[in-house]
Amino acid sequence: MKFDVLTLFPEMFTPLTASIIGRASKNNYIKINITNIRDFSKDKHKKVDDTPYGGGAGMVMRADVVYDAYKSVATKESKVIYLTPQGKTLDQEKVKNLSKEKHIVLLCGHYEGIDQRVIDEIAPEEISIGDYVLTGGELPAMVLIDSVSRYVEGVLNKDSIQEESFSTGLLEYPQYTRPEIFYNRQVPEILLSGHHEKIEDWRKKKSLEITYNKRPDLLEKLTLTNEEKQYIENLKENKN
Ligand code: ADE
Repeated sequence: MKFDVLTLFPEMFTPLTASIIGRASKNNYIKINITNIRDFSKDKHKKVDDTPYGGGAGMVMRADVVYDAYKSVATKESKVIYLTPQGKTLDQEKVKNLSKEKHIVLLCGHYEGIDQRVIDEIAPEEISIGDYVLTGGELPAMVLIDSVSRYVEGVLNKDSIQEESFSTGLLEYPQYTRPEIFYNRQVPEILLSGHHEKIEDWRKKKSLEITYNKRPDLLEKLTLTNEEKQYIENLKENKN
């Protein structure tokens, strides 16, 4: 999987050299290439933006500069994404689907935005990472790269993906490690029992319970077994 990022602030992407994503890049499971849009300015002062037609606050990124940067990396096969609060909100299903792409081009806006004509010309998919406004698309691009890369073969071990929050549609069960007692709090007895089936059952119930308590909206999207439905009903009536 290759990511090409188009940005005015390449230095913002150093966090991707650390931890799991950094290792995945080093081991060539993913490739992250950052292009500075400013390199495509034809202006002797390397100007990339200008005042908005019609007036108003801030600066707008020029269509020609952004388009040249885009042309330098995109091919017919590229999936092109523009990070914007106007886009569809990123969720785990979208993340999973994007992980099947071979090449993702991420266009990051800054200032008051990008000249609409280049957006119309490129017609990228528009993605938001939530209903709040950031100073630019750089953090959203990193969020997307991180979440999508986790599904790329070799980046994580397979069990981590299967058990995590959202992949099953449920939030994850709680985890514990040594010491066995911490400020008078015991690790749940069942986890020390070595009884794998019972542990699995306990974890499943905890997942249901946590999802019911913290994000009941997620349960509505799932097809639950009768046993799971009954467990939720009991939770509602405080019977478990
Ligand atoms: N650019 C600014 N805010 C954003 C958001 N919430 N999601 C994606 N891109 C953005």
